Amino acid sequence: MGKVDLNAKIPNNVGLADDRRLCRALEHWLPLYMEWWNDMGPAGFQTKDIYLRTAISVEAGGWANFDYVKMPDYRWGIFLSPLDQDRKIGFGDHFGKPAWQDIPGEYRGNLRRIIVTQADTEPASVEQQRFLGSIAPSLYDMRNLFQVNVEEGRHLWAMVYLLFRYFGRDGRDEAEELLSRRSGDEDKPRILNAFNQACDHWLSFFCFTHFTDRDGKYQLASLSESGFDPMARTCDFMLTEEAHHLFVGETGLDRIIRRSAELTKETDGDPRSAGGIDLELIQRAINYWFTYSLDLFGSEISSNASNFFSEGLKGRFKEEQRYEDHIMKDGVKPLSLVKNGAVVQEEIPYRNAMNEVLREEYINDCERALRKWNRTLEKVGVDFRVKLPSRRFHRHQGLYADYIFDPEGNLITEEEFKANERNWLLGPDDNDYLSSIMHQVIEPGKMANWIAPPSRGINGQDLEFEYVRL
Ligand SMILES: [Fe+2]
Ligand SMILES: [Fe+2]
Repeated sequence: MGKVDLNAKIPNNVGLADDRRLCRALEHWLPLYMEWWNDMGPAGFQTKDIYLRTAISVEAGGWANFDYVKMPDYRWGIFLSPLDQDRKIGFGDHFGKPAWQDIPGEYRGNLRRIIVTQADTEPASVEQQRFLGSIAPSLYDMRNLFQVNVEEGRHLWAMVYLLFRYFGRDGRDEAEELLSRRSGDEDKPRILNAFNQACDHWLSFFCFTHFTDRDGKYQLASLSESGFDPMARTCDFMLTEEAHHLFVGETGLDRIIRRSAELTKETDGDPRSAGGIDLELIQRAINYWFTYSLDLFGSEISSNASNFFSEGLKGRFKEEQRYEDHIMKDGVKPLSLVKNGAVVQEEIPYRNAMNEVLREEYINDCERALRKWNRTLEKVGVDFRVKLPSRRFHRHQGLYADYIFDPEGNLITEEEFKANERNWLLGPDDNDYLSSIMHQVIEPGKMANWIAPPSRGINGQDLEFEYVRL
């Protein structure tokens, strides 16, 4: 265990060669996966050489190996962070006992649910981003899109490994289902709402990689605390890849914001006249993707979340480093509820608020990025500032989904919402406009007019580097 076998049909560091049955099962799944990738992966670029990063070991330095690769030849592998024989369960009712190397029978159902839900998001995002290559603003961005796509594909492998290895027949069935659901499909949609939303232009792509992939970071981080050790180690390694996706989103939005601010100044407040994106539209996209991403954390009061914590399956963000009390049996957490037509504060048992605890970490991280973007706006010299809407605004899951709020978090009527929806949320006209200005730019080093260039290239390469050979 531990050594990376790169020459295997399925590159891995989980000793697949020594487990013939598992190996055969995964080799049987491989062509099904490839069929899915060819049907639903990036449209039109499968035969092109892309300057991609591939993991060749899980050690520092080893997982970032850059070379030209055709996407179907990417090493979809199974990589877990190194095993720590002495690892203990870090929270909940089993705190301090040795971490499980196999699935505790009584938690099989909950673990299966956690793994399948996470797994489903990985192919979903590839499907959502399928056509973006053909309207990429530069070769640099196109390459980043494909890097994100192949890594989401690999994340599916990471999760499917757990299903095959620990869930027998049920796991095999789930793995097949993962390839048969489709993002946005009426009959067989992906499990979570955000992963069924259209992402058909690059403003949505950057919002998605910033806000929705960031939910992924927090989910993976809390699963990397899990007492079920193989899942913890799988998620831990996925996080190293996820960081790049967040970088793509955060810097992508920063570049659009900068360019929009520049064009706003140059055109006296009408960036659209220069083929740019107005800052109000960017704010609507932030409102849209931030709120769909908030839903992914689940209900504010949740007995499932409480069970996942007490059972040692899902911890808090940086559970080990950041918290003293890892049991949290008696604590409470204040929460805003709606009672008799008003928003009031109430205390609820802390373990039942675990989803909200994680959501708060996420919101703070989003606020940090907003401050950065606002510094960009300040530097360019425009007065506009972007902000996050209230966590109660535009929710489809949890406590607030039954009511209607404005972006400040005040209860409003449906009529008030309808009258303002166009100003608050990314809508069909916005999507039409964005699609109308986004055209593929393929000359090395060139950028579409609606986005500023990045501050540097990938892996020390120049911006003029040919990141995709077309
Ligand atoms: Fe992922
Ligand atoms: Fe991701």
